[in-house]
Amino acid sequence: MDKIVIDGGVALEGEVSISGAKNAALPIMAATLLAPGMHRLHNVPSLADIRTMKRVLGLMGVTFEEPGAEKGGHTGPPLQGAPLPDEALAVDTSNLTGWMAPYEVVKTMRAAVLVLGPLLARARQASVSLPGGCAIGARPINIHLKGLEAMGVKITLNQGYVEAKARELKGTEIILDFPTVTGTENLLMAATLAKGTTRIVNAAQEPEVGDLAQFLVALGAEIEGIGTDVLTIHGVETLVPAPYTVMSDRIEAGTYLAAAAITKGKVAVTNAPVAHLTAVLEKLHEAGVRCTIAGDCIEVQPGGGLTGVDAKTLPYPGFPTDMQAQFMALMSVAKGASVITETIFEDRFIHVGELKRLGADITISGNQAVVRGRRHLSGAPVMATDLRASASLIIAGLAAQGTTEVHRVYHLDRGYAKLVEKLSALGARIKRVPA
Ligand code: EPZ
Repeated sequence: MDKIVIDGGVALEGEVSISGAKNAALPIMAATLLAPGMHRLHNVPSLADIRTMKRVLGLMGVTFEEPGAEKGGHTGPPLQGAPLPDEALAVDTSNLTGWMAPYEVVKTMRAAVLVLGPLLARARQASVSLPGGCAIGARPINIHLKGLEAMGVKITLNQGYVEAKARELKGTEIILDFPTVTGTENLLMAATLAKGTTRIVNAAQEPEVGDLAQFLVALGAEIEGIGTDVLTIHGVETLVPAPYTVMSDRIEAGTYLAAAAITKGKVAVTNAPVAHLTAVLEKLHEAGVRCTIAGDCIEVQPGGGLTGVDAKTLPYPGFPTDMQAQFMALMSVAKGASVITETIFEDRFIHVGELKRLGADITISGNQAVVRGRRHLSGAPVMATDLRASASLIIAGLAAQGTTEVHRVYHLDRGYAKLVEKLSALGARIKRVPA
């Protein structure tokens, strides 16, 4: 187990390039099951969760080619084509030998449930461990299962596993009780090969859902309403592999914007999905953060104090829950008070206790946290508890006076590629050492 050690107080300076979006790459990797053959994916971020999804697919007989295949990164029969450039992934789904996502994998990454829809569409069966709760909430998948049953899937729960079978998937209208992101994605993938037309009403509109939909269209799926809350999918007979480039990560981008702002630095965030950051940019502007935008580059300008502003997390296009912890770190050194309301997850304030160890003044009441800005934070040892909570501790540590040690950094490895390298390149005094 490593820890990250930061000597705070350095204004970040320079340029940082955003990697591919984890929450687009994961469903897209699962979707390769729908089209037997070789898929060449680009801009796939180098993350622990991506490696976990490869493990899940590998258990089903899927094989991969790593960049520079001659290094022997490839398992299974030789794949055609030159080795892929870095951040690229060749996925061969020609031969499926299984349809199970076991507990020991799903418990480490709940996104493994994304194989459910594709397996049912491809193999008409699946055995996927229930994900169980996690640090930020119970996170059931009842809406996924209710939608699949509406499409004709027979589902039984057996010793913590979802055992799903379907003679055939049939198109139907599904109204989601909540615009669940992976629920929408599972149903969208299942519908591409169903008989007839499926309408998903109250669908999640997160950009990552749109990126998955664009990938499915590239495979030959017929989908209307991409980017809206009603998706209409006309089932087709077969889908065929197609090359695809994953979108860049709006949450990684937002995280670096917050890091630049809290250190009063001057940082250009490039390869940023500007169009997907409207709510985040609006909130940062309201808080006094000055940004200039040119194409896919967002440059945070130094100067101008931070003002405490309220924020409320909402499904897209509202302020994203995955930026809540990072924004709270920023507000902890803003002038005045900020009320942060979390409406998506029932227990996503675990980072509050750790931020308070750094001197933040935060009071929780139900799903609201009242942050009273302090002139500065003070470094201390803290513990990461989930992916975005870890990011908020890093952000706070960059601004805190003295040394901050963030423990259990494996949480960060799940969603931030090359974080220490990227922050070091911006001048941060940061290193990763054995705990
Ligand atoms: C996705 O999780 C993301 N993960 C999460 O990102 C993100 O926080 C979340 O969407 C919300 O935007 C991936 O895309 C891999 P939900 P997901 O289903 O799909 C309730 C990160 O940091 N719900 O939209 O699991 C659920 O309990 C991660 O990258 C049901 O009640 O989120 C939660 O309260 C963290 N029943 C709310 O809906 C269901 O069947 C939103 O969940 C499904 C969801």
